[in-house]
Amino acid sequence: MQADLVLKNGLVFTSKGIVEADIAVNEEKVAKIAKGPNIPKGVKTIDCRGKIILPGLIDPHVHFRDPGETEKEDFYTGSCAAAAGGFTLVADMPNNQPPTSTVDAFKSKVKEACSKAVVDFCLYAGCGAENMTEMAYLAGEGAIAFKTWMYLSSPFSNLLAVKDFKEVIQIFTNTSKLGVPIAVHAEDAETIEQATTLLKSSGRKDPAAHSESRPASAEVKAVRVCLDAAKKTGVTLYLLHLTTKGAVEEVKAAKSWGVKVVAETCPHYLFLTEEAILQLGAYAKINPPLRGIEDQKALWGSLVDTVIDCIGSDHAPHRKREKEEGREDIWLAPSGAPNIEVSLPLMLTKVNKGVITLARLVELMSTNAAKLFNLYPARGTIDEGAQGSFTVVDLKSDYKIRADHLYTKAKECMLFDGWMVKGRAIYTIVRGSVVMEEGVVVGSRGFGRFTPRGLTQRRSHSVS
Ligand code: NCD
Ligand code: ZN
Repeated sequence: MQADLVLKNGLVFTSKGIVEADIAVNEEKVAKIAKGPNIPKGVKTIDCRGKIILPGLIDPHVHFRDPGETEKEDFYTGSCAAAAGGFTLVADMPNNQPPTSTVDAFKSKVKEACSKAVVDFCLYAGCGAENMTEMAYLAGEGAIAFKTWMYLSSPFSNLLAVKDFKEVIQIFTNTSKLGVPIAVHAEDAETIEQATTLLKSSGRKDPAAHSESRPASAEVKAVRVCLDAAKKTGVTLYLLHLTTKGAVEEVKAAKSWGVKVVAETCPHYLFLTEEAILQLGAYAKINPPLRGIEDQKALWGSLVDTVIDCIGSDHAPHRKREKEEGREDIWLAPSGAPNIEVSLPLMLTKVNKGVITLARLVELMSTNAAKLFNLYPARGTIDEGAQGSFTVVDLKSDYKIRADHLYTKAKECMLFDGWMVKGRAIYTIVRGSVVMEEGVVVGSRGFGRFTPRGLTQRRSHSVS
């Protein structure tokens, strides 16, 4: 037998620990993990000596802006950035124009993304007060999860956001019945509106006003509401981009009562504090905002003690011109920063420093997202029969992050330019095909495949 691809001499991160072995991939799946003569010859062979082969990393939270705002990013550039950053699968958010909250919008987004993606992708469907009757059909199309905002000042609010507890319960009940998780941007609208009105009326336009308009209490309040609704409805709740000690404590308590909650944080909350908005101004304007050192410490603690389950980049590209509009008046700039290409090197730097283990990184950046999306064990682990998608890592590579080397259209808005990091992906391999090699994207446009929820797996798995 000949295999399509053989990875030789690598340290393979299997479900049973790290083993020195070769991997043969055939017809997109892991055919064999063994040493020496038991491995078939490969049409293509890569020597992975000294490198670690991780299950293909998954970014559960990206905004590729396609359709609607492709001047900021599109599915090709976004997925090239994903491949460069070591991600084999991404889950794209529904706040497009039009929102991915109707079956028509969902289908046409699948079609468009299929023609451009370099890595595999899943899609969230949006939900709000106005598309509740469409939710069952969106689940039928393979939506990976539903997403709603507790706060969204947008003309599309009725398709993407909920305004009160009654709507929260309705949406959670619907998603629970459909057996699909509900992902929430949890910041309380009333708290934010009141704080914003006060700040604006006192003439504040400086960058710190943005942070003050979205206090920690707004997140904690919304998180409590969501956890309460999850408990009542039994839905699996995915709490996106948590930033505060208070939220982490709420999640910890809810987990101990058996609430089905999966929690996420993002690299910018782990590596930057609110000081950054004073230095970087509107470029560091993100929702929720960057926080203080105490919150950051609590986030790191929760990564280690498994309260937080996933790291999503919340890759939210905007144009430099738009960010510059916030120079004199912070309210004018859009929120969000593009991080998908630096998420892994930043986290590997902490692995090198002994802050978290590589095993924990794999849970946070692959396995737990695969479980949440019902794609495990086809994704999120390396075992015979699993998909042949891998992130090959050089843990010893020291380098300086250079914004001008990035693939994202929003490279000028990247927050980590010039940072020294240690550890990077040197190969991104999707279903047996190399899509990134030594930092260069070699995968072709349209190779990436739409990955609907749970087709590869029938039993449900708990996260962590
Ligand atoms: C998000 C975006 O730009 O799409 N921005 C962000 O700061 N996280 C939208 C949002 O979540 O509000
Ligand atoms: Zn987001």
